[in-house]
Amino acid sequence: MISFDQSLTLPSGVTLKNRLMMAPMTTSQSFYNGTITENEINYYAQRSKGLGAVITGAANVEAIGKGWPGELSIADDEMLPELTLLASAIKAEGAKAIIQIFHGGRMTHSATLSGIQPVSASAIAALRPDAEIPRALTIDEIQATIKAFGEATRRAIQAGFDGIELHGANTYLIQQFFSPHSNRRTDKYGGDLEQRYTFIAELLDCVFEAVKNYAIKPFIVGYRFSSEEFETPGIRFADTLWLMTKLRETKLDYLHLSLNTYDRLAQDKAYQENSMLAYIHEAIQGKMPLVGVGGVRTRTDVENVLTDAEFVAVGQQLLFDPTWPLKLATNNDPAMFSGDFADALSYTSFATPLFKFLDQRYRSIPNI
Ligand SMILES: Cc1cc2nc3c(=O)[nH]c(=O)nc-3n(C[C@H](O)[C@H](O)[C@H](O)COP(=O)(O)O)c2cc1C
Repeated sequence: MISFDQSLTLPSGVTLKNRLMMAPMTTSQSFYNGTITENEINYYAQRSKGLGAVITGAANVEAIGKGWPGELSIADDEMLPELTLLASAIKAEGAKAIIQIFHGGRMTHSATLSGIQPVSASAIAALRPDAEIPRALTIDEIQATIKAFGEATRRAIQAGFDGIELHGANTYLIQQFFSPHSNRRTDKYGGDLEQRYTFIAELLDCVFEAVKNYAIKPFIVGYRFSSEEFETPGIRFADTLWLMTKLRETKLDYLHLSLNTYDRLAQDKAYQENSMLAYIHEAIQGKMPLVGVGGVRTRTDVENVLTDAEFVAVGQQLLFDPTWPLKLATNNDPAMFSGDFADALSYTSFATPLFKFLDQRYRSIPNI
């Protein structure tokens, strides 16, 4: 069995010292224009020790992709000085620094975009309260959006990050192009699975081109995805297994299955013998590492995830228990926080913007 403290070298050549990652978690603490604050940098520094890698919360690649207030941005060169501080703060604790890059697509709101209508693959609103009908991107705009991801990759390299994670999960724009619910296009970006994969294929080409042009040392490119949608039509688990056959043939460094509980079963009865994580792991055929996430709080959880994945990402446990990896490494399991996260908010010290965001989140649980 893989032990969490074993190192692993990714396909690009970057070595992670162990199998633990911080799961991407937005903290909504950035300034209005997406520049990171000192509070947020300190927050990451406090949680980076003992991890192989830290994946930051989502950072938008262009203004119209901003998903929520206080979100980190990597959309402009003016963010470079503060992004450099963030990368340095994470690396100073010995973890690789990976920034998650994203575009909210139809999952944002005109109120967040100063009155501008959100955009997506097609003019179809998401199935959620208050969802707005987005404007369908033109072909030129799609290509500009892809370029924005390439530019964000360049900035991540220039800011000293060790890698990026493409946020292809949680119903945001990349997933919206793959989903038959949000993508009803009749041009080359829409149609069957293969055609709905066109956006992802062009995105990967653009990102790897930026890596080739700007990185002077190996640079991590990971990809996060969700495995099922509840909408009809929507992404089904078999579609995701098909997606794996495409992604496993690319130069990606890892795939990251976004889940709230790592042992969750598919909705599709044909795939309920094993967890989705196990099926996905099998579908990747060992061609690149898989990251498992969702509800990891104890040593047993870590061991369970590592039977079906090469890495384990930890979110809320680290949020509330910043020294959790050190407790794991020193066999101090009894000291690990084991209470209820929502209750813990009342007695954990967070900077005010983060406290307010978490307070609201634990009351409403938005789809991030
Ligand atoms: C406060 C908070 C913010 C999150 N922000 C993001 C995000 O920016 N990007 C993302 O892909 N997932 C995000 N997630 C989902 C987590 O990465 C993770 O998949 C989820 O919390 C389950 O893991 P956990 O049980 O270890 O927390 C967020 C979760 C939380 C609790």
